Amino acid sequence: MQVRETGTILIVDDQPTNLSMLSRSLQRNGMTVMLAINGQDAIQKVLNQKPELILLDIQMPGIDGFETCNLLKQNTTTQDIPIIFMTASIDSKDKIKGLSVGAVDYITKPFEEEEVLARVRVHLKLSNLTKTLEHKNFLLEELTKDLEERVAQRTNQLSQALEDLQNTQMQLIQTEKMSALGQLVAGVAHEINNPLSFIAGNIEHTEDYIQNLIEHLRLYQHEYPQTVSLIESHAQKIELNYLLEDLPQIIDSMKTGAERIYNISTSLRSFSRSDTTNKVYFDIHEGIDSTLLILRHRLKANERRPNIEIKKDYGELPLVNCFPSQLNQVFMNIIANAIDAFDEINNGRSYSEIQTNPNLINITTRFIQEHQVVTISIEDNGPGIPDEIKKNVFKHLFTTKTVGKGTGLGLSISLQIVEEKHEGKLKCISLPGKGAKFVIGLPLK
Ligand SMILES: Nc1ncnc2c1ncn2[C@@H]1O[C@H](COP(=O)(O)OP(=O)(O)O)[C@@H](O)[C@H]1O
Ligand SMILES: [Mg+2]
Repeated sequence: MQVRETGTILIVDDQPTNLSMLSRSLQRNGMTVMLAINGQDAIQKVLNQKPELILLDIQMPGIDGFETCNLLKQNTTTQDIPIIFMTASIDSKDKIKGLSVGAVDYITKPFEEEEVLARVRVHLKLSNLTKTLEHKNFLLEELTKDLEERVAQRTNQLSQALEDLQNTQMQLIQTEKMSALGQLVAGVAHEINNPLSFIAGNIEHTEDYIQNLIEHLRLYQHEYPQTVSLIESHAQKIELNYLLEDLPQIIDSMKTGAERIYNISTSLRSFSRSDTTNKVYFDIHEGIDSTLLILRHRLKANERRPNIEIKKDYGELPLVNCFPSQLNQVFMNIIANAIDAFDEINNGRSYSEIQTNPNLINITTRFIQEHQVVTISIEDNGPGIPDEIKKNVFKHLFTTKTVGKGTGLGLSISLQIVEEKHEGKLKCISLPGKGAKFVIGLPLK
């Protein structure tokens, strides 16, 4: 580090010979000199222009050197200027007093030019060094502050990124789970269809055959009314008349059962259509119906409440180009939330109370020709959603349900499916105490 050994020096002395001798010697050595002839003069000059160093005589008329030094040290703008006392006395009391009022050094008169120069240089160097250090310190402090700010900023960014990552991961897991489940369900539904078609197909034949057999038996009974006792007792044993009456009904209920299984497996397949890559034209009503079928076990009556009523008001809808299984997941999430909400308010109500004021879900679909939009509205008469909760329902991981019951993913994923994947709108409308309504709008284009 290059530190300067020159600068502006103020010499304060009441004796002109001292002043001129010192100033000549300092100027010769490249320094700038200011002069003052007494304490007051010195203070005035210092306030006008700050020197790097002051050479101050102790014995002066008016305020002496000690007093001048004191005054300069009391002023915050001048207190840092180093002061060297000049004294004729060799009294060490004076030296101690000088140092104690804040002087950095002293030189004795008569002056030794070399000594004066050497001391002046040392103190200029020290003063400049101190200034440089102070400046460096200041820079270092600024740098540290800046660095701390940047670290805090970066930490913030990183924790935000981490949170985003965790959210995405949760979403991925959920989507992955749904799609794995969807594939499984679709596979099972497919596997069931095959044996089911044997049963359904053979029931038709069985029905015909049995009809024929019965006819044949009737014919026998008619043509040979006189039977032997062995046949008579066997007919009684097997309750032949009852059997002949009941058998067609049994076949009929088997047919109904097979038909129901067929419907369920078709719905399951429709619900879990694997359409992750391309949109297809899809009947929204088929999606809603298959979702309701899958939720049937949650909608039907149990020992605590009668069944949840579903009122459908379906409009004339065109097919919608969409990802059917994803839309089905949206219907599922919204309807399941309504059922959850019913479960919660039903808790404090008796069976008959619920019966007089039944749980109801209204599903309305419309095609709005002028906007080319299909709307699906799912409304329940449950507890509704208070405003402070309503503004959060679409937020990721927001749930008011207990751990294990709610994940807080349903509506945020639904929003993503409707708005990002289908460029539609998903809105929540709710009056607390009057139920909640979710409206999906899907553009046709
Ligand atoms: N039909 C509704 N009635 C009352 N509250 C609802 C309804 N649908 C959603 N909510 C509120 O929205 C929150 C978020 O729903 P969702 O994202 O599906 O997560 P989860 O069902 O796992 O809690 C629910 O915890 C609930 O407080
Ligand atoms: Mg939910």
